[in-house]
Amino acid sequence: MIDLHTHILPGIDDGPTDWEESLGLARALVAAGVKEVAATSHIKPPTWDNRSVGLAELRQQLQDRLTEEGLSLQIHPGAEHWWCGSVLDRLVQGGGQPYGTGTAALLEFHPLEGPRLFEQRLDRLWSHGIVVVLAHVERYKIFEGRSGFRRLSGLVDKGLVAQVNLGSLGRGFGWSRGGAAKKMVQAGLVGLVCGDCHRAQDVAPAYDRGLKALEKIGGSAAVERLLSRNPRRLLEGIEVDPWSPPQY
Ligand SMILES: [Fe+2]
Repeated sequence: MIDLHTHILPGIDDGPTDWEESLGLARALVAAGVKEVAATSHIKPPTWDNRSVGLAELRQQLQDRLTEEGLSLQIHPGAEHWWCGSVLDRLVQGGGQPYGTGTAALLEFHPLEGPRLFEQRLDRLWSHGIVVVLAHVERYKIFEGRSGFRRLSGLVDKGLVAQVNLGSLGRGFGWSRGGAAKKMVQAGLVGLVCGDCHRAQDVAPAYDRGLKALEKIGGSAAVERLLSRNPRRLLEGIEVDPWSPPQY
């Protein structure tokens, strides 16, 4: 499996505070069957104003430590970009930290306050060739209820990649807003599923309960599409289709 949403780099956001926690998270992910991750530390100025040069240095240090420990986990470039004017500007100017070697980028915004001019700014990102991956879509108030689902569905049809957290699929409540994560997968809206793990203890709820829930919804085909095929393509900046339930 390939997990394109992890906070695995130490000391630069709300992820691991030091190398030991970082390596602990890596060990737990490997034990769960994850072979590759994108290190998607927050880019959220001024709190976490991470830049691509610093991120690259930390990724290399982590990769070296993993090799020393004999842990087989490949670390890819990435970041979780905060949806605000300055970060969007960076992305369209070739800054920020897209996935892998491509142009797909992970973005998030406040769960309760949808961004102003959301669709217009999405169009701007798309017009610059950026494949927009929206983190944990199950959290956002703007996608709640029937009208929210219609809005999300319209955006997915235009190319938005909706990402859901495995932990939300396993829980069904809380951040997942009454099973929104499951409903979104079942409705064929979701193009990517990830752990969004910040520490080792986040891995079991994601890769035990969450993965089982995904298998229950769509079997091995959904797991393959959402945790292997689509992440592989997004690392190369290639657009992806959501997983959809088979039509009989
Ligand atoms: Fe995250």
